[in-house]
Amino acid sequence: MSDYTIRQFTQDDLRTVTEINKTCLPENYPDSFFLVLYQHAPRAFLVAEANGSVVGYIMCRIERGISSFGPLPVKKGHVVSIAVLPEYRNRGIGSELIRRGIEGMKEYGVSEVFLEVRRSNETAIQVYEQLGFEVKRVLRGYYRDGEDAFLMVRRA
Ligand SMILES: CC(C)(COP(=O)(O)OP(=O)(O)OC[C@H]1O[C@@H](n2cnc3c(N)ncnc32)[C@H](O)[C@@H]1OP(=O)(O)O)[C@@H](O)C(=O)NCCC(=O)NCCS
Repeated sequence: MSDYTIRQFTQDDLRTVTEINKTCLPENYPDSFFLVLYQHAPRAFLVAEANGSVVGYIMCRIERGISSFGPLPVKKGHVVSIAVLPEYRNRGIGSELIRRGIEGMKEYGVSEVFLEVRRSNETAIQVYEQLGFEVKRVLRGYYRDGEDAFLMVRRA
């Protein structure tokens, strides 16, 4: 199915995106966090729309650091948060948000992208692996409840 569209986030989407975030993930943030990321990298803050409403989002941050692929300083894209409403999953929307988010991050000059994911989140890990991400290392006790994260990386 491809009855959805992907476009840039606008400030009018804020309420819906924060609601999707709260519905789908235990990691929630104040409105200001979403708006700062939007101002920081608007081309990598995307929403998916289906049936006339926003059903998913991806938001990203552009960072500098040592490459995961060699000892060089690089610009990296960080997938900070991604979610699709449960009733719209398994249609390829999440994968397309990530592909388009990476395209957006590349416009800011990143050469690689990374994200953290709960080690129990098998669905997300599978989606990321299908898109070419690999587990780089385990971040012990990364989440507030003590769960480990996998740090996953991919060339942009
Ligand atoms: C992770 C998440 C964003 C994936 O979104 P999604 O829209 O379901 O992703 P996709 O549809 O692209 O892929 C999901 C599954 O559908 C499959 N799929 C991909 N395209 C498909 C298509 N066109 N038709 C049917 N299935 C498809 C994938 O292979 C994957 O298979 P799986 O069931 O074996 O895992 C979503 O599960 C989610 O919001 N989870 C809760 C929040 C979360 O965990 N975020 C990540 C935090 S790091």
